[in-house]
Amino acid sequence: MFELTGKTAIVTGAGSRNGIGRATALALAKQGADVAVCDLNLEGVQETAKEVKALGRRSIALQVDVTSPESVEKVVQTVVKEWGRIDILANIAGITQPIKVIDTTPADFDRIVAVNMKGTFLFSKAVLPTMMAQKSGRIINMSSVSAKRGGGVFGGAHYSAAKAGILGFAKALAREVAPYNITVNSVAPGLVLTDIRGGIEPEEEQKKMAADIPLKRLGKPEEIAATICFLASDEAAYITGEEIDINGGSHMD
Ligand SMILES: NC(=O)c1ccc[n+]([C@@H]2O[C@H](COP(=O)([O-])OP(=O)(O)OC[C@H]3O[C@@H](n4cnc5c(N)ncnc54)[C@H](O)[C@@H]3O)[C@@H](O)[C@H]2O)c1
Repeated sequence: MFELTGKTAIVTGAGSRNGIGRATALALAKQGADVAVCDLNLEGVQETAKEVKALGRRSIALQVDVTSPESVEKVVQTVVKEWGRIDILANIAGITQPIKVIDTTPADFDRIVAVNMKGTFLFSKAVLPTMMAQKSGRIINMSSVSAKRGGGVFGGAHYSAAKAGILGFAKALAREVAPYNITVNSVAPGLVLTDIRGGIEPEEEQKKMAADIPLKRLGKPEEIAATICFLASDEAAYITGEEIDINGGSHMD
């Protein structure tokens, strides 16, 4: 089950040591996929690419700014030139900012929306010609519990808005590209133990953060990566326009 041998993937935001992007790249590779990894952090993706290769898969490490159409197009064209196809796109790159609306500047708002939401749009658009020609593809987007529960975990209203925007975008795109056998889904994690909040929190702090989470702990990047692998697999072929919550029970729809 969930075999990805012979498939090629692009994972954005894969340069962070403890991040969901790197965990996703490694999980896809373990299932058999070749994985192109990209991030603002070139050194970080070069390390991730080494780990993917150590698993016996092909990898390409590329620097990208997901807010730049030219930069995104360059990554996609490089992968198409090298590997000839793109089966899976995991839009993981993202940033957050813990701030109240009253203190948020228009520039803060634009930056959070650009990295999280516009980046998802730009990468999805860039892979579509290839996936449509193949008549197959999987796009998996990164939302957040903040999109659905009215924020309040970490990140401002602009982050909630961007992550909710991703859900709307994914559903509309799912309808649009379904005739090409391309599925578009999202994952909505709760608090995950990564560096996004400025570093892994000490254990005491983690306990406090987890106090209101029914499962009483933060999520692990590998737990998000596993769901992304599932959505990328043949077994998930009939799931599209869906979002999967992975949050320890902190929000239940
Ligand atoms: N950690 C959590 O609790 C949590 C919860 C819900 C959703 N998320 C989402 O998961 C995704 C991954 O977050 P993470 O926790 O692994 O964080 P992380 O900070 O470890 O990784 C994010 C990566 O995105 C990259 N990035 C930032 N801006 C970029 C840009 N303009 N272009 C290219 N790459 C860029 C960073 O360099 C970094 O490597 C994000 O979209 C985040 O919003 C995280």
